[in-house]
Amino acid sequence: MAASTDEPSAFHAFERAGWESIPQAYQGAFGTLTTQAVGPLLDAARVGTGVRVLDVATGPGYVAAAAARRGAAVVGVDFSAAMLAEARRHHPEVEFQAGDAEALPFPDATFDAVVMSFGLLHLGRPDQALAEAHRVLRPGGRVGFTVWARPDEAVAFGIVLGAVQRHGRLDVPLPTGPPFFRFSDPAESRRVLVGLGFKEPDVVVVPQIWKLASGDALFEVMRDGTVRTAGLLRAQTPEALQAIRAEIREATLPYRRGGGIELPMPAVLSSAVRP
Ligand SMILES: C[S@@+](CC[C@H](N)C(=O)[O-])C[C@H]1O[C@@H](n2cnc3c(N)ncnc32)[C@H](O)[C@@H]1O
Repeated sequence: MAASTDEPSAFHAFERAGWESIPQAYQGAFGTLTTQAVGPLLDAARVGTGVRVLDVATGPGYVAAAAARRGAAVVGVDFSAAMLAEARRHHPEVEFQAGDAEALPFPDATFDAVVMSFGLLHLGRPDQALAEAHRVLRPGGRVGFTVWARPDEAVAFGIVLGAVQRHGRLDVPLPTGPPFFRFSDPAESRRVLVGLGFKEPDVVVVPQIWKLASGDALFEVMRDGTVRTAGLLRAQTPEALQAIRAEIREATLPYRRGGGIELPMPAVLSSAVRP
């Protein structure tokens, strides 16, 4: 979780290897969560019938499939062959292609809308990916992307990172990526979008609730269904990990509802227009 923008290539390779090995665990953990912001994301990018849409970092293809259901002409791209296999298996009606968000395999001005759901925070070069979105959009086209809100609002991250900070180490030897919560800051999103030549930047918060069985389940999905946070947990000593797990269990108690827990996990949704 270190905040540095060097080593983008090492970080890219680390993320790629990570996603290749967790497509099922990711869907089991996050499938009911990231899909809550899909409607607002597609609305922000004005996705409807006949709109040409690119879903970048499509993962299991949730956004691409929802765009197709709206009657859009959509392509989903991802750099993970394992994720693409899952996307194709679940959504055989949708077109998926291998591709890197930082070097999109499409000509200029190909799409009316480019969307990215919880992808930007996984990139070594997020500014480059947004420049690529700008390049493949036609004039008047719209970009839209979601990221997690800051950890004081996206409670699961607050609980897990707080537990690591108190019982383990945040400065573990992993390839350093850009700050995980950089685009959670509306001012930073607007600054980057305008700097890349977009106009009318808009940033809104989309409420989401993560329903899990227990605090132990939260620990396990972070350990098994993520890349950067999983790397952080794997790098702790066994003693620290035990203490982290216990604190997560304890810290989720105030969120008990019915037989499980319900954690607020808002998304920050940014959108803008290519002039
Ligand atoms: C958190 S998942 C998001 C999946 C999906 N969009 C969703 O909302 O659930 C991140 C996805 O980004 C992909 N990804 C990460 N870096 C990428 C890159 N440089 N180019 C293309 N895909 C990338 C991963 O393979 C993974 O499928």
